[in-house]
Amino acid sequence: MDQIVIQGGNPLTGEIRIGGAKNAALPLMTASLLSGEPLTLKNLPRLADISTMSKLLEQHGVSVLRIEHGKGGMTMTFDAGGVDNTVAPYDLVRRMRASVLVLGPLVARFGEAKVSLPGGCAIGTRPVDLHIQGLEKLGAEIDLDGGYITARAPNGLVGDQFVFPFVSVGATENLMMAACLAKGETVLTNAAREPEVSDLAHCLVAMGAKIDGIGSDTLTIQGVGSLKAAEHSVVCDRIETGTYAMAAAITGGEIELKGVRTDLLEATFKMLGDAGLQIENTTEGTKVSLDSGGLKGVDVMTEPFPGFPTDLQAQVMALMSLAEGTAMITETIFENRFMHVPELSRMGANINVQGASAMVRGVEQLTGAEVMATDLRASSSLILAALAAKGETVIRRVYHLDRGYERIEEKLAACGAVIERAEEK
Ligand code: EPZ
Repeated sequence: MDQIVIQGGNPLTGEIRIGGAKNAALPLMTASLLSGEPLTLKNLPRLADISTMSKLLEQHGVSVLRIEHGKGGMTMTFDAGGVDNTVAPYDLVRRMRASVLVLGPLVARFGEAKVSLPGGCAIGTRPVDLHIQGLEKLGAEIDLDGGYITARAPNGLVGDQFVFPFVSVGATENLMMAACLAKGETVLTNAAREPEVSDLAHCLVAMGAKIDGIGSDTLTIQGVGSLKAAEHSVVCDRIETGTYAMAAAITGGEIELKGVRTDLLEATFKMLGDAGLQIENTTEGTKVSLDSGGLKGVDVMTEPFPGFPTDLQAQVMALMSLAEGTAMITETIFENRFMHVPELSRMGANINVQGASAMVRGVEQLTGAEVMATDLRASSSLILAALAAKGETVIRRVYHLDRGYERIEEKLAACGAVIERAEEK
């Protein structure tokens, strides 16, 4: 396993090009299963999860053509004209929860699907009960047996109304995709409004789907007989954007984030502005720096979009650990997303967890230490802390990082970070 070694203390200055969003790319790739004609996706990030999803689709019989690019994103074409297997096996699904997103497209187009239950992960149990309830509402017969979800709709799915009892990104995506091929109209109420959900909806419309209410919490889908070939460019990654914006702030530097749209991060940039960041739009993106007053403690509560994203909670905790004053950080989406707290504390952060809230009291300085990554976003939180800490930090188990951040050490080193990847000793 690899580790990342960082000598902290350098202000980061320069520019970072923001890639395509992992959490848009993964559902977009599963959308290819809905059509017998090829789907071409541009601006795909080079990430472990993208490779895992490609392998999963290939074992279903999707032909995957990869067109490498230089420093930009990848272009890949997915042709599901020859799908001959509707089973998603445990050994692939267990590695990546997003695999469950093949369920809706498979049962909608082929009338059957057998998908392993994803199992829990570091940040929570993360059940898929809403995915199942929604597909049943569209007429699928579902059995849970031997760790697998078996879904059948031999006469096809039938449109209906479904109200989400709480917001679920994945369940919204699965049901929106399934509804595209259901007979009649489907109305999804209290649907997720994340930009990645809207990006998927725009791609489905390009494939010939009929979807109204994109970007709102009510999606109305008129089923169609089949979908056609399309091309779509993946929306930029707002979580990568927020992470690198905080890298600029925590080191007292200045970074221009290229190719990013600030409307994807209004709540985040509002909070970061209150915490003392200067954020200004440029012709090619957004420039982020820390104003002269330094970092100030600001309370944060994670919420579904357009609220502050849970995927930036670990990163903002690292930032607040060096702020003047205190910050109360409350995690409302996942039940166990504070795994980064003990690791940050080992670097000198002063954090006190009470249930779903963590009280962060700013300290003068963090000190480098040996720490361990536990999940994707916790890893990036440790990177931020290490960039600002005095001395050397060694972050182990960085395979978590590779799932969601493309070439992170290259992008940070190009802005002056002293960072290298090495074999774990
Ligand atoms: C997506 O996960 C993202 N992953 C997550 O990003 C993100 O944190 C999450 O949405 C919330 O924004 C991808 O898009 C691939 P949910 P998802 O369904 O769809 C519970 C990252 O770091 N729930 O919105 O799995 C669930 O347990 C990852 O990039 C049910 O109870 O999230 C959670 O507590 C981490 N039953 C809450 O709802 C269900 O059927 C929100 O989950 C579905 C979800």
